[in-house]
Amino acid sequence: MIDHRDNALGIVAGLLEARTGQKLTADRLWRVGTALAGVLRQNQLDSLEALADRLSMPNQLPLAQQVVEALLNNETYFFRDRSTFDQLATSILPQLAQSRAATRRLAIWSVGCSTGQEVYSLAMLFAEQPARWRDWTIDIIGTDVARSVVAAAREGNFSQFQIQRGLGVAQMVAFFEESRTGWRASDTLRRMVRFDQHNLLDRPPEPGRFDLVLCRNVLLYFDRPTRERAFSRLASALAPDGLLMLGAGETTVGQTTALVPEKGRTGFHRLSSSVQPLAPSMAAAAGHRLAVPR
Ligand SMILES: C[S@@+](CC[C@H](N)C(=O)[O-])C[C@H]1O[C@@H](n2cnc3c(N)ncnc32)[C@H](O)[C@@H]1O
Repeated sequence: MIDHRDNALGIVAGLLEARTGQKLTADRLWRVGTALAGVLRQNQLDSLEALADRLSMPNQLPLAQQVVEALLNNETYFFRDRSTFDQLATSILPQLAQSRAATRRLAIWSVGCSTGQEVYSLAMLFAEQPARWRDWTIDIIGTDVARSVVAAAREGNFSQFQIQRGLGVAQMVAFFEESRTGWRASDTLRRMVRFDQHNLLDRPPEPGRFDLVLCRNVLLYFDRPTRERAFSRLASALAPDGLLMLGAGETTVGQTTALVPEKGRTGFHRLSSSVQPLAPSMAAAAGHRLAVPR
Protein backbone atom coordinates (compact mmCIF):
# COMPACT_ATOMS: atom_id res chain seq x y z
CA MET A 1 0.00 0.00 0.00
CA ILE A 2 1.31 3.45 -0.90
CA ASP A 3 1.52 4.94 2.55
CA HIS A 4 2.31 8.59 2.12
CA ARG A 5 0.18 11.36 0.62
CA ASP A 6 3.22 12.96 -1.06
CA ASN A 7 4.05 9.69 -2.83
CA ALA A 8 0.45 9.37 -3.96
CA LEU A 9 0.48 12.95 -5.27
CA GLY A 10 3.75 12.21 -7.07
CA ILE A 11 2.18 9.25 -8.86
CA VAL A 12 -0.85 11.28 -9.92
CA ALA A 13 1.33 14.22 -11.02
CA GLY A 14 3.62 11.87 -13.00
CA LEU A 15 0.60 10.40 -14.75
CA LEU A 16 -0.76 13.83 -15.72
CA GLU A 17 2.60 14.95 -17.07
CA ALA A 18 3.20 11.75 -19.04
CA ARG A 19 -0.26 11.91 -20.68
CA THR A 20 -0.61 15.65 -21.32
CA GLY A 21 2.70 17.46 -20.69
CA GLN A 22 1.07 19.43 -17.87
CA LYS A 23 2.83 19.87 -14.55
CA LEU A 24 0.91 19.79 -11.27
CA THR A 25 2.47 22.95 -9.91
CA ALA A 26 2.20 23.92 -6.23
CA ASP A 27 -0.68 26.32 -6.93
CA ARG A 28 -2.73 23.44 -8.40
CA LEU A 29 -1.92 20.80 -5.77
CA TRP A 30 -4.45 22.09 -3.28
CA ARG A 31 -7.37 21.20 -5.53
CA VAL A 32 -6.29 17.66 -6.44
CA GLY A 33 -8.43 16.18 -3.65
CA THR A 34 -11.57 17.99 -4.87
CA ALA A 35 -10.86 17.22 -8.51
CA LEU A 36 -10.45 13.50 -7.81
CA ALA A 37 -13.33 13.12 -5.33
CA GLY A 38 -15.68 11.81 -8.05
CA VAL A 39 -13.09 9.32 -9.33
CA LEU A 40 -12.55 7.98 -5.81
CA ARG A 41 -16.31 7.62 -5.28
CA GLN A 42 -16.93 5.89 -8.61
CA ASN A 43 -14.14 3.42 -7.97
CA GLN A 44 -15.02 2.86 -4.31
CA LEU A 45 -11.65 4.09 -3.11
CA ASP A 46 -11.39 5.92 0.21
CA SER A 47 -8.20 7.95 -0.24
CA LEU A 48 -5.65 9.33 -2.66
CA GLU A 49 -3.19 6.73 -1.36
CA ALA A 50 -5.63 3.92 -2.24
CA LEU A 51 -6.04 5.43 -5.72
CA ALA A 52 -2.26 5.57 -6.24
CA ASP A 53 -2.03 1.99 -5.04
CA ARG A 54 -4.65 0.89 -7.60
CA LEU A 55 -2.88 2.85 -10.35
CA SER A 56 0.32 0.93 -9.64
CA MET A 57 -1.43 -2.36 -10.48
CA PRO A 58 -1.42 -3.79 -14.03
CA ASN A 59 -4.22 -3.05 -16.53
CA GLN A 60 -5.37 0.24 -15.04
CA LEU A 61 -5.47 2.27 -18.27
CA PRO A 62 -9.16 3.27 -18.00
CA LEU A 63 -8.64 4.45 -14.40
CA ALA A 64 -5.49 6.35 -15.41
CA GLN A 65 -7.42 8.12 -18.17
CA GLN A 66 -10.23 8.95 -15.73
CA VAL A 67 -7.72 10.49 -13.29
CA VAL A 68 -6.02 12.59 -15.97
CA GLU A 69 -9.33 13.88 -17.34
CA ALA A 70 -10.54 14.83 -13.85
CA LEU A 71 -7.43 16.98 -13.37
CA LEU A 72 -7.73 18.92 -16.62
CA ASN A 73 -9.37 22.33 -16.77
CA ASN A 74 -12.01 22.18 -19.52
CA GLU A 75 -13.40 25.70 -19.09
CA THR A 76 -14.73 27.07 -22.38
CA TYR A 77 -17.64 28.99 -23.87
CA PHE A 78 -18.94 30.23 -27.20
CA PHE A 79 -17.05 33.12 -28.85
CA ARG A 80 -14.56 33.33 -25.96
CA ASP A 81 -12.60 36.61 -26.28
CA ARG A 82 -15.24 38.08 -28.57
CA SER A 83 -12.89 40.73 -30.03
CA THR A 84 -10.61 38.05 -31.50
CA PHE A 85 -13.59 36.36 -33.14
CA ASP A 86 -14.65 39.77 -34.51
CA GLN A 87 -11.17 40.13 -35.96
CA LEU A 88 -11.48 36.67 -37.51
CA ALA A 89 -14.81 37.57 -39.10
CA THR A 90 -13.88 41.03 -40.36
CA SER A 91 -10.24 40.63 -41.31
CA ILE A 92 -8.70 37.12 -41.21
CA LEU A 93 -11.46 35.15 -42.97
CA PRO A 94 -11.87 37.73 -45.78
CA GLN A 95 -8.07 37.52 -46.30
CA LEU A 96 -8.28 33.72 -46.44
CA ALA A 97 -11.23 33.95 -48.85
CA GLN A 98 -8.91 35.79 -51.23
CA SER A 99 -5.78 33.71 -50.80
CA ARG A 100 -7.66 30.40 -51.16
CA ALA A 101 -10.03 31.55 -53.92
CA ALA A 102 -8.45 29.13 -56.44
CA THR A 103 -9.06 25.97 -54.38
CA ARG A 104 -12.05 27.12 -52.33
CA ARG A 105 -10.89 24.93 -49.48
CA LEU A 106 -10.12 25.92 -45.90
CA ALA A 107 -8.67 23.70 -43.18
CA ILE A 108 -8.88 24.88 -39.57
CA TRP A 109 -7.62 23.08 -36.46
CA SER A 110 -8.81 23.89 -32.93
CA VAL A 111 -6.26 22.38 -30.52
CA GLY A 112 -7.51 21.68 -26.98
CA CYS A 113 -11.10 22.25 -28.11
CA SER A 114 -12.68 20.96 -24.88
CA THR A 115 -16.45 20.39 -25.31
CA GLY A 116 -16.51 22.05 -28.75
CA GLN A 117 -17.83 25.58 -28.21
CA GLU A 118 -14.78 27.08 -29.96
CA VAL A 119 -15.27 24.82 -32.99
CA TYR A 120 -19.00 25.49 -33.29
CA SER A 121 -18.31 29.25 -32.88
CA LEU A 122 -15.98 29.04 -35.90
CA ALA A 123 -18.57 27.11 -37.87
CA MET A 124 -21.14 29.83 -37.11
CA LEU A 125 -18.87 32.51 -38.62
CA PHE A 126 -19.07 30.65 -41.94
CA ALA A 127 -22.74 29.76 -41.64
CA GLU A 128 -23.60 33.43 -41.06
CA GLN A 129 -22.24 34.31 -44.51
CA PRO A 130 -23.73 31.66 -46.81
CA ALA A 131 -23.26 33.74 -49.97
CA ARG A 132 -19.54 34.28 -49.42
CA TRP A 133 -18.79 30.63 -48.59
CA ARG A 134 -21.14 28.89 -51.03
CA ASP A 135 -19.26 26.08 -52.87
CA TRP A 136 -16.36 26.17 -50.43
CA THR A 137 -15.15 23.11 -48.53
CA ILE A 138 -14.75 24.16 -44.92
CA ASP A 139 -13.07 21.53 -42.77
CA ILE A 140 -12.82 22.37 -39.07
CA ILE A 141 -11.23 19.74 -36.87
CA GLY A 142 -11.32 19.97 -33.07
CA THR A 143 -8.98 17.84 -30.98
CA ASP A 144 -8.40 17.38 -27.27
CA VAL A 145 -6.34 15.01 -25.15
CA ALA A 146 -9.40 14.20 -23.01
CA ARG A 147 -11.67 11.54 -24.48
CA SER A 148 -14.76 12.59 -22.51
CA VAL A 149 -14.80 16.17 -23.83
CA VAL A 150 -14.21 14.96 -27.39
CA ALA A 151 -17.26 12.70 -27.05
CA ALA A 152 -19.31 15.65 -25.74
CA ALA A 153 -18.11 17.90 -28.57
CA ARG A 154 -19.07 15.27 -31.15
CA GLU A 155 -22.49 14.99 -29.56
CA GLY A 156 -22.85 18.80 -29.90
CA ASN A 157 -25.61 18.91 -27.32
CA PHE A 158 -25.29 21.83 -24.91
CA SER A 159 -27.09 22.41 -21.62
CA GLN A 160 -29.11 25.56 -20.98
CA PHE A 161 -26.18 26.90 -18.93
CA GLN A 162 -23.61 26.19 -21.67
CA ILE A 163 -25.73 27.57 -24.52
CA GLN A 164 -26.23 30.88 -22.75
CA ARG A 165 -22.51 31.51 -22.28
CA GLY A 166 -21.30 33.70 -25.14
CA LEU A 167 -24.15 33.01 -27.55
CA GLY A 168 -26.87 35.52 -28.46
CA VAL A 169 -30.50 34.38 -28.66
CA ALA A 170 -30.59 34.92 -32.45
CA GLN A 171 -27.56 32.61 -32.97
CA MET A 172 -28.96 30.06 -30.57
CA VAL A 173 -32.25 29.85 -32.45
CA ALA A 174 -30.62 29.94 -35.89
CA PHE A 175 -27.99 27.23 -35.31
CA PHE A 176 -29.26 24.99 -32.49
CA GLU A 177 -32.34 22.84 -32.12
CA GLU A 178 -33.99 22.28 -28.78
CA SER A 179 -33.46 18.69 -27.65
CA ARG A 180 -34.72 16.66 -24.69
CA THR A 181 -31.64 17.62 -22.67
CA GLY A 182 -30.63 21.02 -24.07
CA TRP A 183 -29.68 22.48 -27.43
CA ARG A 184 -28.19 20.45 -30.28
CA ALA A 185 -25.99 21.93 -33.03
CA SER A 186 -27.76 22.00 -36.40
CA ASP A 187 -26.72 19.88 -39.38
CA THR A 188 -25.41 23.04 -41.07
CA LEU A 189 -22.77 23.38 -38.35
CA ARG A 190 -22.14 19.65 -38.03
CA ARG A 191 -21.30 19.29 -41.72
CA MET A 192 -18.26 21.58 -41.22
CA VAL A 193 -16.81 20.03 -38.07
CA ARG A 194 -15.20 16.82 -36.85
CA PHE A 195 -13.55 15.86 -33.56
CA ASP A 196 -10.72 13.54 -32.50
CA GLN A 197 -8.71 12.68 -29.43
CA HIS A 198 -5.13 13.92 -29.85
CA ASN A 199 -2.24 15.12 -27.69
CA LEU A 200 -0.83 18.33 -29.07
CA LEU A 201 2.68 17.21 -28.16
CA ASP A 202 2.34 14.42 -30.75
CA ARG A 203 2.68 14.84 -34.50
CA PRO A 204 -0.18 17.03 -35.84
CA PRO A 205 -3.08 15.26 -37.57
CA GLU A 206 -2.28 16.69 -41.01
CA PRO A 207 1.14 18.43 -41.00
CA GLY A 208 1.54 21.54 -43.14
CA ARG A 209 -2.10 21.62 -44.14
CA PHE A 210 -3.85 24.08 -41.84
CA ASP A 211 -4.70 27.61 -42.95
CA LEU A 212 -5.64 28.53 -39.39
CA VAL A 213 -4.79 26.86 -36.08
CA LEU A 214 -6.39 27.91 -32.78
CA CYS A 215 -4.63 26.95 -29.57
CA ARG A 216 -6.17 29.01 -26.79
CA ASN A 217 -5.87 28.61 -23.05
CA VAL A 218 -3.95 25.34 -23.34
CA LEU A 219 -0.27 26.29 -23.33
CA LEU A 220 -0.44 28.15 -20.03
CA TYR A 221 -0.37 24.85 -18.15
CA PHE A 222 2.98 23.78 -19.69
CA ASP A 223 6.45 24.54 -18.39
CA ARG A 224 8.79 26.41 -20.72
CA PRO A 225 10.49 23.45 -22.51
CA THR A 226 7.14 21.73 -23.03
CA ARG A 227 5.61 24.96 -24.38
CA GLU A 228 8.51 25.23 -26.81
CA ARG A 229 7.83 21.66 -28.02
CA ALA A 230 4.15 22.50 -28.34
CA PHE A 231 4.90 25.60 -30.46
CA SER A 232 7.12 23.48 -32.69
CA ARG A 233 4.24 21.02 -33.24
CA LEU A 234 1.78 23.85 -33.93
CA ALA A 235 4.19 25.42 -36.41
CA SER A 236 4.58 22.12 -38.25
CA ALA A 237 0.79 21.95 -38.66
CA LEU A 238 0.53 25.31 -40.46
CA ALA A 239 0.51 25.88 -44.20
CA PRO A 240 3.43 28.17 -45.15
CA ASP A 241 1.17 31.27 -44.99
CA GLY A 242 -1.13 29.91 -42.24
CA LEU A 243 -1.95 31.70 -39.00
CA LEU A 244 -1.94 30.58 -35.37
CA MET A 245 -4.49 32.15 -33.01
CA LEU A 246 -3.61 32.13 -29.30
CA GLY A 247 -5.71 33.02 -26.25
CA ALA A 248 -5.84 36.44 -24.59
CA GLY A 249 -2.56 37.07 -22.79
CA GLU A 250 -0.72 34.23 -24.60
CA THR A 251 2.16 34.94 -26.97
CA THR A 252 4.94 33.41 -29.03
CA VAL A 253 7.35 36.20 -28.07
CA GLY A 254 10.34 34.80 -26.18
CA GLN A 255 8.81 31.29 -26.28
CA THR A 256 9.77 29.95 -29.70
CA THR A 257 11.82 30.80 -32.75
CA ALA A 258 9.34 29.07 -35.07
CA LEU A 259 6.57 31.67 -34.86
CA VAL A 260 6.25 35.45 -34.73
CA PRO A 261 3.33 37.82 -34.06
CA GLU A 262 1.39 38.87 -37.16
CA LYS A 263 1.73 42.63 -37.55
CA GLY A 264 -1.43 44.59 -36.76
CA ARG A 265 -3.37 41.48 -35.75
CA THR A 266 -3.50 41.03 -31.99
CA GLY A 267 -3.56 37.37 -30.97
CA PHE A 268 -2.41 36.01 -34.37
CA HIS A 269 1.01 34.57 -35.21
CA ARG A 270 2.70 33.24 -38.34
CA LEU A 271 5.73 31.10 -39.21
CA SER A 272 8.98 32.99 -38.81
CA SER A 273 11.38 33.30 -41.72
CA SER A 274 13.67 30.76 -39.98
CA VAL A 275 11.10 28.07 -40.81
CA GLN A 276 11.70 26.90 -44.36
CA PRO A 277 9.11 24.97 -46.36
CA LEU A 278 10.64 21.66 -47.45
CA ALA A 279 10.88 20.64 -51.11
CA PRO A 280 7.76 18.61 -51.97
CA SER A 281 9.70 15.33 -52.40
CA MET A 282 11.38 15.72 -49.00
CA ALA A 283 8.05 16.68 -47.46
CA ALA A 284 6.43 13.50 -48.72
CA ALA A 285 9.30 11.43 -47.32
CA ALA A 286 9.23 13.19 -43.95
CA GLY A 287 5.46 13.47 -43.73
CA HIS A 288 5.98 17.21 -43.11
CA ARG A 289 5.94 20.25 -45.32
CA LEU A 290 7.97 22.41 -42.99
CA ALA A 291 11.32 22.23 -41.32
CA VAL A 292 10.72 23.61 -37.86
CA PRO A 293 13.71 24.36 -35.66
CA ARG A 294 13.60 22.33 -32.43
C1 LIG B 1 -9.14 25.59 -20.65
S1 LIG B 1 -9.60 24.51 -21.96
C2 LIG B 1 -9.63 25.64 -23.34
C3 LIG B 1 -10.71 25.31 -24.34
C4 LIG B 1 -10.79 26.27 -25.54
N1 LIG B 1 -9.58 26.22 -26.33
C5 LIG B 1 -11.05 27.69 -25.08
O1 LIG B 1 -10.12 28.51 -25.07
O2 LIG B 1 -12.20 27.99 -24.71
C6 LIG B 1 -8.07 23.62 -22.24
C7 LIG B 1 -8.24 22.30 -22.96
O3 LIG B 1 -6.95 21.83 -23.37
C8 LIG B 1 -6.94 20.41 -23.24
N2 LIG B 1 -5.55 19.94 -23.17
C9 LIG B 1 -4.69 20.01 -22.12
N3 LIG B 1 -3.51 19.45 -22.43
C10 LIG B 1 -3.61 19.04 -23.73
C11 LIG B 1 -2.71 18.39 -24.62
N4 LIG B 1 -1.46 18.03 -24.24
N5 LIG B 1 -3.14 18.11 -25.87
C12 LIG B 1 -4.39 18.46 -26.26
N6 LIG B 1 -5.30 19.05 -25.46
C13 LIG B 1 -4.90 19.35 -24.20
C14 LIG B 1 -7.75 20.16 -21.98
O4 LIG B 1 -8.26 18.85 -21.94
C15 LIG B 1 -8.85 21.22 -22.10
O5 LIG B 1 -10.01 20.71 -22.69
